[in-house]
Amino acid sequence: MGRTFAARGVRIEERRIDRTFAGAIADLFPTRQPLEIEIGSGKGRFLLHRAQAHRDRNFFGIDYRWRFLKEGVLRAEQRGLTNLIFLKTEAEEIIPHLVPPASVEVFHIYFPDPWHKKKHHKRRLLTPEFFKLLHASLVPGGLLELATDNFDYMIAFKAALVEAGDTLWSGMRETRNERILDPGVQTHFEAKYARAGRDLYYIELCK
Ligand SMILES: C[S@@+](CC[C@H](N)C(=O)[O-])C[C@H]1O[C@@H](n2cnc3c(N)ncnc32)[C@H](O)[C@@H]1O
Repeated sequence: MGRTFAARGVRIEERRIDRTFAGAIADLFPTRQPLEIEIGSGKGRFLLHRAQAHRDRNFFGIDYRWRFLKEGVLRAEQRGLTNLIFLKTEAEEIIPHLVPPASVEVFHIYFPDPWHKKKHHKRRLLTPEFFKLLHASLVPGGLLELATDNFDYMIAFKAALVEAGDTLWSGMRETRNERILDPGVQTHFEAKYARAGRDLYYIELCK
């Protein structure tokens, strides 16, 4: 995989990914345990809480912006969280190549960049193709958790879900202003938007 590994936070400096690494992503942790992945983990606030509370699980935070990611890397190291690794890369690169099918218990996607402009819609993370990939990567009964403050994005999310085949999923829950998984914990943006009084939309899909 790439060239540069920085201490506990794995920095993939090169875009080239060695495909022979496929299937072994979970081996970056000292212990094999159920795996959760946050896509676009930002400063890592949510995963730092969750990894501390669930030492019997492993967590990956993926974000392509090092200036956010490095805060999480530093804190995970300070707290001795050996079950939390941050990866500096694009989700679209890592999931298809380094995450085997039926290997992830939970995907967390919180406040993804909505790419408002129409010409940027294709950059949106949650396309029908990406949905199918996430679905395939989940274990049976695995969860996909989404939160957004953007009503249009939530509608686009559901449209992509239908296009990908919503019958793939065995269940779906939706709430407003009420986190579904880990209600006591907030991401950085979640806390900021809640303080600002914005409506927050949550969706949970179960494989
Ligand atoms: C609005 S922030 C939300 C951060 C965090 N989830 C939160 O709720 O506080 C969106 C984050 O997703 C990251 N991001 C967007 N698209 C991504 C992609 N395709 N792969 C990895 N990270 C991505 C951005 O760098 C940014 O840190």
